[in-house]
Amino acid sequence: MAEQKATNITWHDGDVTCAERHSNLGQKGATLWMTGLSASGKSTVAVALEKVLLDRGKHAYRLDGDNVRHGLNKNLGFSAEDRAENIRRIGEVAKLFTEAGMITITSFISPYRTDRDLVRALHDDADLPFIEVYVDCSLKVAEERDPKGLYKKARAGEIKGFTGIDDPYEAPTSAEVHLHSDTMSVAEQVAALLDALEQRSILSA
Ligand code: ADX
Repeated sequence: MAEQKATNITWHDGDVTCAERHSNLGQKGATLWMTGLSASGKSTVAVALEKVLLDRGKHAYRLDGDNVRHGLNKNLGFSAEDRAENIRRIGEVAKLFTEAGMITITSFISPYRTDRDLVRALHDDADLPFIEVYVDCSLKVAEERDPKGLYKKARAGEIKGFTGIDDPYEAPTSAEVHLHSDTMSVAEQVAALLDALEQRSILSA
């Protein structure tokens, strides 16, 4: 848990409630938190879902691990401590987007259960929907795909601490959605995610 460093700060409430903001947009905000190995297909399904939602006139936005590490989190590496900070920051950002009424789709390996649970708690405390999505793909298939050639490098010892090779991945035990990305098509995965949103009345406000 990050410590509160600043002192003499006071929370300033606005005049607009979350419900009013969502009603204006005609949808509720929600965070869809994709977790899974590198090359499990998190970004692929996130991109497809975002497109379908926008085509339906919904407001959605993707926060992608590789992309966010080019900007906001460019000062973080892959130690357990840096991964925790990566997830903490993006959890806070996702919460803000979701509060604003966006369907926020994150795709981060987020290998540690504790880090993901902290993001869940952040959303629960603010009464905002948090949908954990386990993008489940065997290491064998992820390694065969290896779109960036990183597994190959990790096996050759050129990358240390690579998730699934010599760094842990703690699979979710109670994710709201469990996608089998090595057997399901992208369309089937998107349909399962739309279902999850509809079941929670996110697509209307
Ligand atoms: S996380 O573990 O902190 O959640 P994140 O999703 O932001 O990771 O970034 C993962 C991406 O960084 C991978 O898809 C891969 O492209 C790249 N990467 C580079 N080094 C590593 C590493 N040691 N372990 C995992 N992914 C890495």
